[in-house]
Amino acid sequence: MSSSLFRKKTVAGLLEEMAGENRLRRVLGPVHLTSLGVGAVIGTGIFVLTGAAAHDKAGPALMLSFVVAGIACIFAALCYAEFASMVPVAGSAYTYAYATLGELFAWIIGWDLILEYAVSAGTVAVGASGYFQDLLGLLGINLPKAISGAPFDYDPSMGGFSSTGSLIDLPAVVITGIVTVILVVGIKQSASFNTAMVILKVAIVLFVIGVGVFYINPANWKPFAPFGLTGISFFGKTAAGQHDAGGQPLGMLAGSAIIFFSYIGFDSVSTHSEEARRPQRDVPLAIITSLVICTVLYIVVSAVLTGMVPYNQLDISAPVSKAFKHVGLGWAQFLISFGALAGITSVVLVTMLSQARIFLAMARDGLLPRGFFGAIHERFRTPWKSTILTGVFVAFVTAFLPLRILAQLVNIGTLMAFVMVCAAVLIMRKTNPEAKRPFRVPMVPLIPILGILICLLLMFSLPPENWLRLVVWLVLGFAIYFGYGRRHSLMASANTRVDQEPVVPASISISSRTE
Ligand code: ALA
Repeated sequence: MSSSLFRKKTVAGLLEEMAGENRLRRVLGPVHLTSLGVGAVIGTGIFVLTGAAAHDKAGPALMLSFVVAGIACIFAALCYAEFASMVPVAGSAYTYAYATLGELFAWIIGWDLILEYAVSAGTVAVGASGYFQDLLGLLGINLPKAISGAPFDYDPSMGGFSSTGSLIDLPAVVITGIVTVILVVGIKQSASFNTAMVILKVAIVLFVIGVGVFYINPANWKPFAPFGLTGISFFGKTAAGQHDAGGQPLGMLAGSAIIFFSYIGFDSVSTHSEEARRPQRDVPLAIITSLVICTVLYIVVSAVLTGMVPYNQLDISAPVSKAFKHVGLGWAQFLISFGALAGITSVVLVTMLSQARIFLAMARDGLLPRGFFGAIHERFRTPWKSTILTGVFVAFVTAFLPLRILAQLVNIGTLMAFVMVCAAVLIMRKTNPEAKRPFRVPMVPLIPILGILICLLLMFSLPPENWLRLVVWLVLGFAIYFGYGRRHSLMASANTRVDQEPVVPASISISSRTE
């Protein structure tokens, strides 16, 4: 029994699967891949969460928060890059775990990635809703309170949850619905569409930097770290720094644990390995390049924002555009809100697309029902059932849960996936020392170990109740694995090959529509 829990795919087996029929077309070059990375990364984190993180957790030290989270991500990115070059298959961390830690861990990561993709899509949609409402406000339209947000939110000043007076975040639900329909009917979305979105987003970010820099008042950077430079809590006990009335850690590190969300998505480049022309070289390059570009932009934007507006006056739902209003540049507000809304919505789309791929990889292996998660619509050639299920789930979380709760849950889940990928690199170096690694993490074991430690540190800088939420989520996952996946796994039957019927329709390929 225990050995079957840890049954592994071999690297050779994975590469053989890749050589099978029905794989995605290899059309993506390094620029497309990098722009996919940047496209999946720049969204609600930088445009929305910066406000609450500076306001409630870090103050102007937010710029250091971005440095720390960026370092954690660079270490994890190097580990992702090694795997992506070694086994350039779709499925990302889930597949890497299958090859190193065995089926049970692969399932745990796959289940955990639902937090990173589906719950994250819901979180991002709440951010899009904030900017949509900001745009409406500029046009003189204010939505009724009842349909403008989640019914409750955490109030840091009280240290507990309070009613917001709203019932549902309807704009977020509508945005999710539109994205789901687009994904189901076979989006004309393509690498070039994504590139257009990336150009728009990066242009807005550069605009914020280029114009905002002239409105910095250095006095706003003092005090630099009003809540201190730490903020660590060990299962409810404050281990370093201050905490708020509800026991949530405060300080630069606590801010880092929140804005970590901004970086999520660079790893989704690895889900496109199957479509890369030269995956061994270009995927690692794109993962690292997109992350470095975003890290630099984020640090500068957070410095500019906290320089433009005193940290305790930053807006919570549309902080970037409101900062421009604050300094008297009302005209820029429309531009920023429009760009942010379009850019954030494209993150929802790419994230939900990636979720469908992860489900597909798991269904291929028999861990999820293939009839449902591998079902391809006859006319649209898209994985319509899993896309609609994802859409319904995303709509539900986005409708009723507040942004900060969602973001924290996504962060703890993603940090756990990063810890596992760093550990998997260490294990793989021991178990498969001879495997070809076109990209190698430098200074092993130091870098993966540092990656694990920084990610764990950030997990402990999140409000402690997130551990409980993570455990509940994982227990649910275990129940599904032991109730279904373990018995239906293709690996369970010795004479069943994992590459049976690898149905991956070209229509879910982000690149296939460029032809
Ligand atoms: N990093 C993505 C965002 O900030 C998830 O929206």
